[in-house]
Amino acid sequence: MKFGKRSVRDLEIQAGQRVLVRVDFNVPLADGKVTDDSRIRGALPTIELLRERGASLVLCSHLGRPEDREPETSLRPASERLGELIDARVVQAEAVVGDEVRAAAERLEPGEVLMLENTRWEPGEKENDPDLARELASLADMYVNDAFGAAHRAHASTAGVAEQLPSAAGELLEREVVTLRKIVEEPEHPFVVVLGGAKVSDKVALIDRFLDVADAILIGGAMCFSFYRAQDKSTGDSLVEEEGIDLARRALEKAESSDCRLILPVDLLLGKEFDADTERRELDGTEVPDGWMGLDVGPRTVESYTAEIAKAGTVFWNGPMGAFEMEPFAAGTRGVAKAVAEAPGTTVVGGGDSAAALADFGLAEEVTHLSTGGGAALELLEGKELPGVEVLDDA
Ligand code: 3PG
Repeated sequence: MKFGKRSVRDLEIQAGQRVLVRVDFNVPLADGKVTDDSRIRGALPTIELLRERGASLVLCSHLGRPEDREPETSLRPASERLGELIDARVVQAEAVVGDEVRAAAERLEPGEVLMLENTRWEPGEKENDPDLARELASLADMYVNDAFGAAHRAHASTAGVAEQLPSAAGELLEREVVTLRKIVEEPEHPFVVVLGGAKVSDKVALIDRFLDVADAILIGGAMCFSFYRAQDKSTGDSLVEEEGIDLARRALEKAESSDCRLILPVDLLLGKEFDADTERRELDGTEVPDGWMGLDVGPRTVESYTAEIAKAGTVFWNGPMGAFEMEPFAAGTRGVAKAVAEAPGTTVVGGGDSAAALADFGLAEEVTHLSTGGGAALELLEGKELPGVEVLDDA
């Protein structure tokens, strides 16, 4: 699969030249510490390659969705974690741009790293303001985008700045784009897609695309209740996305004339309330009685989904099968995670919740590719162009 963009490997760098690297260090924090560092680890190949070549690195990222300079969204915990991982000092700037930041960038020796503050502290970031893009560009001689998770955003640090400097794609960004494009454009068949989560509306574009290219789509999570309602089934007190019912109906109609099978759960695990300690019962079927809600798929569903996944040449999984954060309702998601981890074919997992589930079950190392992108991965698979990739210099 041709990527078509210049790679960081092909940049000609003189020792001490500064490279501005956009990373996605939008990581979860608790008590001022990073609780999942996979996005930071994901950027290490690019960071190490540039340091080995004698570049000075100016890193930038967003974190969270601050409206302003909110101290709890500082990049400091992420830069501290990066420092531990590369076993080197990472200088944390106090701001995104400005005289002090420029002076700190100019002081960098070859191989040294400066982390800018949260790009979203600058109002111009999300507006892709050319002045902010120019200020960012003035900190470096070239630009590398390794922030796959933010590549669907046309912001100053992901898009605007690339127009101001020679630019290239980082190792993580390239691997993500090539792997995800390959599964929709050249999958090994059978191609089995497992989709869960609460809302059909979040996944409808994906379902539409996969109905054209996959062999089977296995549905789980609360979104199956929109499908059942489209089939006039009772859903009891289950969470139903009402606007999803029509979308589900259209997907079922499209599936009828498609070669791809759209498969719904055949049994469910019910609870009285959305609570780990609630009374629960198995339902061998899918007509949910009043006073009960579906909180996980049942064992027969896990068995049949496991059989589909085991036969697949390619598996893509996005979204949990049930309320897996409550242990009594985690079996469906754990079963699918285990099946994906054991599948002999190419296995690709995308989206924060499925990645978190795999990590919870200790299976994160067992898949071919665990995407660091949520929205970016979904948009790419839907066939949309990612502005943060398109703007980079061609190979
Ligand atoms: C993500 O977590 O999906 C990315 O970092 C993008 O974050 P955003 O949705 O706040 O732009």
